[in-house]
Amino acid sequence: MAKRYYIETYGCQMNKAESSSLEVDLRARGWEPVDRADAADVVVVNTCSVRQTAEDRLWGRLGLLKSAKRRHPFRLVLMGCMAERLKGEIFLEAPQVDVLVGSFQKHHLVELLEGESRGANSAEGVEGTGQGGRVALTGEGEYRFSSLHSLNEFRVFVPVMHGCDNYCTYCIVPYVRGREVSRSPESILREIRGLVSPRRKVRDITLLGQNVNSYRYPSGAPTGRADRREGASGALPPHGSRERLPALGFPGLLRLLLGELPGETWLRFMTSHPKDMSDELIALLAEENALCRHVHLPVQHGSDRVLQAMGRGYTSGHYLRLVDKIRKIVPGVSLTTDILVGFPRESAEDHRWNLELMRAVEFADAFMYRYNPREGTRAFLLGDDVPDPVKQERLSEVIELQRSITRKRRRLRLGTVTTVLVEAVSRKNPEELLARTEWDDTVVFPGDPKTIGSFVRVCLEKIAGNTFRGRRVPG
Ligand code: SAM
Ligand code: SF4
Ligand code: F3S
Repeated sequence: MAKRYYIETYGCQMNKAESSSLEVDLRARGWEPVDRADAADVVVVNTCSVRQTAEDRLWGRLGLLKSAKRRHPFRLVLMGCMAERLKGEIFLEAPQVDVLVGSFQKHHLVELLEGESRGANSAEGVEGTGQGGRVALTGEGEYRFSSLHSLNEFRVFVPVMHGCDNYCTYCIVPYVRGREVSRSPESILREIRGLVSPRRKVRDITLLGQNVNSYRYPSGAPTGRADRREGASGALPPHGSRERLPALGFPGLLRLLLGELPGETWLRFMTSHPKDMSDELIALLAEENALCRHVHLPVQHGSDRVLQAMGRGYTSGHYLRLVDKIRKIVPGVSLTTDILVGFPRESAEDHRWNLELMRAVEFADAFMYRYNPREGTRAFLLGDDVPDPVKQERLSEVIELQRSITRKRRRLRLGTVTTVLVEAVSRKNPEELLARTEWDDTVVFPGDPKTIGSFVRVCLEKIAGNTFRGRRVPG
């Protein structure tokens, strides 16, 4: 009988992409998905450590899974950033966890589960510490990119780089994901070609990286032979060539991929770091219709003092000039951001600068967080001296301001006609379709399900909450 799996994913798109690639591998080996933990043979929880709240939620979830396991035995696998961060502690404190997988050993997981389902003690090539049937795959190693990250969706995430070298003082990511590594252009090309093939017809691709615009495939990298089996695009040397490639930066990678996209496909990328937003990349955004004019450009804060303490590598002045430049060169571009309030020593004046920057830029939207100390980061040593009620009040102000800006910006778009990618029938009303704009807004409009997967033109007529309501127009 086919083995059944259930995957629960927390955290960012990178985690989603990695869960999805695990599904691809399990399905290829005949495993079947189920929609509840207590119907599965294997339950995988893919975790996040970016804030304490994310970890607290997970500890609560582990408690529930423990009781579920008593009713219906399953193998419980914990992977992702929290598994990497707390390794030993989780193994000790959560005996319900059977398999713990760190960031650099994920590629062994399927092999291990397959070995177990065949009744083998452990799979060949897997290094771990077995302990009463429990396995920890947590060694150091090189991060390995999967070759495929999606099943049947129109919108897919494709990781192109992994890890982060920025070490912003508040952030745990570099410690749990390791140093930046860029995926080989050949491997990315191969995945993209499969996605846009007539069989898959993916129409909206987001290139992912913790710091995607610092993508750099090293200079002089040998042309990986295994990667070249399918033949390469004209931009790369031919199969088996000893020729060495020059370093490939992010704009170069985009050009390579754009050359492979059929007529109507959107290409996006996230998350961009302001310090790596090169003129070449901005020019490309303006030139290439297939590149969505949406840049997620986290600023984090509007006070220079706080930005410096965060180790972001730019001032508010640099950021504002960058925004001006992008808006001038790429008309119609939409900018979104992340804002972090309550960083240690953040004063009332710092907070006013933060609000000031938000007013000056008028982001289309923002993710807004309150600072959470993460042990092991540099900011942890500064203490956490902004009292919780103050953090909460500042966060509420920031959220309120952004909401009013978002509403204002959305209202300005009413009456305009725009292209959308139709994704599905609306869950609330089967007569309506759900679609997305190049700026990542959701639009609902009456339409024919036959158009799912294609681009149509709609006039934006109303806004309800975060969703536009529209009407299809010819063209
Ligand atoms: N690489 C992206 C960048 O440079 O902006 C951010 C990736 S991080 C996973 C997503 C967001 O989480 C950050 O932009 C930051 O606002 C927030 N974040 C990171 N560390 C945090 C912390 N210690 N407390 C609260 N929020 C945090
Ligand atoms: Fe974290 Fe900074 Fe890296 Fe973003 S750039 S992942 S905030 S260390
Ligand atoms: Fe969380 Fe790891 Fe992503 S800490 S935000 S899942 S990189």
